[in-house]
Amino acid sequence: MVVLGIESTAHTFGIGIVENGKILANVKKTYTTEKGGIIPIEAAKHHKEKKEEIYLEALNKASIQEDKIDAIAFSQGPGLSPCLLEGLRFTKELSKKLNKPIIPVNHCIAHLEIGRLTHAEDPVMLYVSGANTQIIAYSANRYRIFGETLDVGVGNFIDNFARFIGIGFPGGPMIQKLAEQGKSYIELPYTVKGMDITLSGILTNLKQKVDKINRLNNPNLKTLPTHPNKDNFFINNHIKLRASGDERDYTIADLAFSMQETVFAMLVEVAERALAHTGKKQLLLGGGVACNSRLQNMAKIMCEERDASFFCPENSLLVDNGAMIAYLGEIMFSKGIHVKPEEIDGLDIKPRQRTDEVEVSWK
Ligand code: ATP
Ligand code: FE2
Repeated sequence: MVVLGIESTAHTFGIGIVENGKILANVKKTYTTEKGGIIPIEAAKHHKEKKEEIYLEALNKASIQEDKIDAIAFSQGPGLSPCLLEGLRFTKELSKKLNKPIIPVNHCIAHLEIGRLTHAEDPVMLYVSGANTQIIAYSANRYRIFGETLDVGVGNFIDNFARFIGIGFPGGPMIQKLAEQGKSYIELPYTVKGMDITLSGILTNLKQKVDKINRLNNPNLKTLPTHPNKDNFFINNHIKLRASGDERDYTIADLAFSMQETVFAMLVEVAERALAHTGKKQLLLGGGVACNSRLQNMAKIMCEERDASFFCPENSLLVDNGAMIAYLGEIMFSKGIHVKPEEIDGLDIKPRQRTDEVEVSWK
């Protein structure tokens, strides 16, 4: 069986092709900005412009003709409406052209299910992406949320901090590099509430500290200037900025380092508690922020200490991608879940669909 998967929930337009659980192609293009965050309409325009090219490249990579495709899976939600609509439109077009059924897939659950490739069987899942931060485990036909962020997702939080110091979107990879140059740990609010976390207070605190560095080093500037996000210019330039903190001097790199140490410790603490409560013995990471090697390390250490196994898919399957949609689509299709070509007109997007809303009838 060959299933094609279409991802378009936010910044990335991706097409994956899977045959009997094996990924044949995983092609994507991501909308990025040099400064500022994601503009949904612009991202949707990006998807519209790139979709045909990505489709052809995916077929080419998989070395198959389009008539070999048995079904088309797509990300139905959650996500940004203009982006989701672009994906749905293309899905319907293909379904009509090829006369093949459609499988509507929940994006977050696709981030979880692709973890099967790592041979995780029944894990607690730490799902850390742009818009979402959830600790999830499967129980009685649903993916249950044991803990989550009460305000913003950790990826958006990191991107917001990055934007404040002049880095474009996405900020996560650059912040990781900057954090590697940090030397002192600066205390930040540690905001775990039961099984949930909040991040906006930490963001405010960080911004105040950045302002302090800025004022001390550039007395005439109100905010940091924006610098080209390339050639390490930003990192080399800004780690030289220092400020007298409450107790000691700190640099922007120290703040990036301290942010990672604090926020990742919060995530790992809640994940550990979920392991303890559920009695499960496996932890699986998912979502774009899971590309961060410091987060991976901290999670790995926690697992070793409590005799649990650690699983993490490769980076190309952690960030948004079409292969995870195709992969889950194939599993669902094999259990008879699909919408026939003659019924697709009523099919719509679900921008606010929650992980625990979906009845998992394919397991
Ligand atoms: P969602 O799944 O909630 O819809 P999304 O579609 O925005 O989220 P992903 O592609 O899963 O997201 O993740 C994107 C996020 O991952 C961005 O916020 C980006 O900054 C972050 N990210 C990527 N690499 C790293 C890294 N090395 N360290 C930290 N964050 C990272
Ligand atoms: Fe995602």
